[in-house]
Amino acid sequence: MCGIVGYIGTRQAAPIILDGLAKLEYRGYDSAGMAIYDGEEIHITKSVGRLKVLEELTHGGATMPGMIGIGHTRWATHGAPNDINAHPHYNSEHTIAVVHNGIIENYLQLKKKLTDRGYEFVSETDTEILAQMLDYYYTGNPIETIAKVMHRVEGSYALGIIFADHPDEVFAVRKDSPLIVGQSVDGCFIASDVPAVLKYTRQVYFVENEEIVRLRADHMHFYNVDVEEIAKAPVTIEWDANAAEKAGYEHFMLKEMYEQPKTIRETLSPRLRDRDVVIDELQMSVEDIRAVRKFHIVACGSAYHAGVTAKYVIEGLARIPVEVDLASEFRYRDPILEEGAMVIVVSQSGETADTLAALREAKKRGFPVLGIVNVVGSSIAREADRVMYTWAGPEIAVATTKAYSAQLIAFYLLAVKFAKVREQITEKEFQGMLEELQRLPNQIELLLNNKGKIQKFANRYLAAKDVFFIGRGIDYAISLEGSLKLKEISYVHSEAYAAGELKHGTISLIEEGTLVAAVSTQPDLYQKTISNMVEVKARGAFVLAVTNEDNREIERAADYVIYIPQTNPFFANSLAIIPLQLFGYYVAVGKGCDVDKPRNLAKSVTVE
Ligand code: G6P
Repeated sequence: MCGIVGYIGTRQAAPIILDGLAKLEYRGYDSAGMAIYDGEEIHITKSVGRLKVLEELTHGGATMPGMIGIGHTRWATHGAPNDINAHPHYNSEHTIAVVHNGIIENYLQLKKKLTDRGYEFVSETDTEILAQMLDYYYTGNPIETIAKVMHRVEGSYALGIIFADHPDEVFAVRKDSPLIVGQSVDGCFIASDVPAVLKYTRQVYFVENEEIVRLRADHMHFYNVDVEEIAKAPVTIEWDANAAEKAGYEHFMLKEMYEQPKTIRETLSPRLRDRDVVIDELQMSVEDIRAVRKFHIVACGSAYHAGVTAKYVIEGLARIPVEVDLASEFRYRDPILEEGAMVIVVSQSGETADTLAALREAKKRGFPVLGIVNVVGSSIAREADRVMYTWAGPEIAVATTKAYSAQLIAFYLLAVKFAKVREQITEKEFQGMLEELQRLPNQIELLLNNKGKIQKFANRYLAAKDVFFIGRGIDYAISLEGSLKLKEISYVHSEAYAAGELKHGTISLIEEGTLVAAVSTQPDLYQKTISNMVEVKARGAFVLAVTNEDNREIERAADYVIYIPQTNPFFANSLAIIPLQLFGYYVAVGKGCDVDKPRNLAKSVTVE
């Protein structure tokens, strides 16, 4: 959500910025712009639409010479997505330029104050207020001025700033929005995320909350909000830049779906040792594990759906009560956390604003927080008491697939570990589960290889208006994610229902030909779900079933069946979700949608 790239060095800045912004496209945006300083003036070019428009306007950056610059992809919050509201923003004199990711909450109050002092504004954005505030408080010392502004603004921000009277420097600062800086032999970089700079450097610094950075062509200095210089250590990024490229696949989403077997192996293998589950990062003794009275799982989007699955798996295996909350609800509902509760926040990006706020809320109340996080060094990873990484590597497509699959694995590991330590399962059952977990990657490969069949089926539903996903228990959790995948990338309206709830309203929406996807992987519930399938079929629905190989009886109630290999019912989500991801993907491809960057959505939702 909003991408920032900045550069200062010995090369032309504009092409580097365009290239970096392209690497951040996955974050979601509706307009793009750059400010380039040629030593005399700060020039800004910006436009609504894709980055391609900005590239064309500037001939790939060639029409904007200069070795200092900041660029931005905007995801509109304050004011419509248009050329004027696009970033960067100037102060009135055009001597300061700013790009911003985040939201300034007291912007109306600040705007009034500045308006009373004669400032005029051209855009509807909160960012322009920052540019004018920097102007208002400007002392000639940028770090001092930035700190003054920081004391007055409320909200979240990551900023890149250029001051015309400091022609050898660029500035960066952050609070609650992600920002990294890095250095190469040719210059220094600012970025919202690592992929933007990986081509140039692997040594990056994660800018912490309320830290200010002064970047020069050949070095960087860090300051706290009291304008004291601070020392920071770089982090070496181990993953390859190629990991963030498409590698011959038509879309990142398809590539990432194909990476799921590898992701699962990598999330599992470091934690399976000597026929045991060893989760060092939990830092919990047998006594600690036995002392847990309740889990609170908090997350957004697909990570929340992984949490809904985890409720069934942890309660079923370890017999520990689990509450699952959407982070945006948890943070404001004054949740009751009692002694023995452990909070688990789940996030691919580690930057989701609501999830981060929920983590802080739990910590404030003195409860230990475990983060299940994919992005190393992200805000949630840094602030959680303990972190269990999902080793999915960079995920670029907005709609998550492999990170979601890795989150499920992290939860299965926790569930079997707790179940064993708390003696809820026998050693034999435990060993059987470990074997089943290790079989999942190969089973997923089989399902992925069946993609042609699902593509054909998806092509029949390109004109669908509504699709319903139904299931019970874990199958309901799978339905939630299957439905989200379809709607977010193909724009087909879709809902997930607990199959038993159908009769309480939804069944009235079933018409001749409505597609209903019934997920049925839980043997104890086969008959119940079949009854629901029969009910919708009797009202004209076309029923697609996703079920286990042994459930041939389902053919009497389904029009089309996708079979998944046999596994432990607690782990069935990992298999059943594959055809549903493929279905959503192929409907979107068939409709010509922008699969990796669906409209209005952002990969990393860093504002509330
Ligand atoms: C966005 C993404 C989803 C993701 C959700 C939570 O909506 O499009 O794919 O599940 O944010 O993100 P997180 O990074 O916290 O897992």
